[in-house]
Amino acid sequence: MKGIILAGGHGSRLHPITLGVSKQLLPVYDKPMVYYPLSVLMLAGVTDIQIISAPGDAAGFQRLLGDGSSLGLTLSYAEQDKPRGLADAFLVSADHIGDEPVALVLGDNIFHGPGFGELLRSSARDVDGCVLFGYPVRDPERYGVGETDASGRLVSIEEKPAAPRSNLAVTGLYFYDNDVVRIARGLRPSERGELEITDVNLAYLRRGKARFVELGRGFVWLDTGTHNALTEASQYVQILEHRQGVRIGCVEEIAWRMGYIDRDACHRLGRALANSPYGQYIMEITEGPAAGAPRAAS
Ligand code: G1P
Repeated sequence: MKGIILAGGHGSRLHPITLGVSKQLLPVYDKPMVYYPLSVLMLAGVTDIQIISAPGDAAGFQRLLGDGSSLGLTLSYAEQDKPRGLADAFLVSADHIGDEPVALVLGDNIFHGPGFGELLRSSARDVDGCVLFGYPVRDPERYGVGETDASGRLVSIEEKPAAPRSNLAVTGLYFYDNDVVRIARGLRPSERGELEITDVNLAYLRRGKARFVELGRGFVWLDTGTHNALTEASQYVQILEHRQGVRIGCVEEIAWRMGYIDRDACHRLGRALANSPYGQYIMEITEGPAAGAPRAAS
């Protein structure tokens, strides 16, 4: 399965912060925002990933992550000349996808919860159609909204409905079979002139091939598109990391625990950042008897 991180757009709701830097490179507490969606794909077992950014922004992501080989990944970069909607990602990345299934994650979405790694890996296995993730929110009208029947089966999806049929937002993480490229090629732009991901999902729903996985209470899904949301996301990460002494979205740790790199390589990545608590954490977890054998991060 190939991966795409969509990190385009102007981030205009975060102006003036994003006038000089891409939104997905902004810090969410102790690491750049893009580490969080990247860690989601890595936990799903996806290692060949394309990052799509706005024109001129790819260089910043490249400076940060390079070709991905230090994390045991293959990273490539593409630019979208202007934002044409989320589904445009499948046209921009058609060559990257080739004839494989694909996972798309939005570059400003943060997911965190117990057992998430396992859930991702089982959901990414043998995708037939699409897999969408639903999350209960207070303000569903801001999102794509999924409605389920009594058995939890998806029966409708609406993009930013004025009168939502449920409180389940469709999150910015999607698994698709290879048909998605053909479906995206056949889309017509919506009223706001965009290729809507919701129209892709509706095409799968009509075929009876849209699976909806609900992320329940105790799970965290945050977007980071506004000043308040960005600050809240930082606070969430800070509180959890400070209380438990773990790091959320630490791509070096995930690369090691998933077996993409070995312990020595991971330790060296920490040493290169040894001046920061983030680097010190990587060194500590890969040092001494407490390090133990790698186990899949969750
Ligand atoms: C997009 C999608 C929407 C989805 C949301 C998740 O909205 O169109 O269906 O719920 O991402 O973050 P946007 O953020 O482009 O307004």
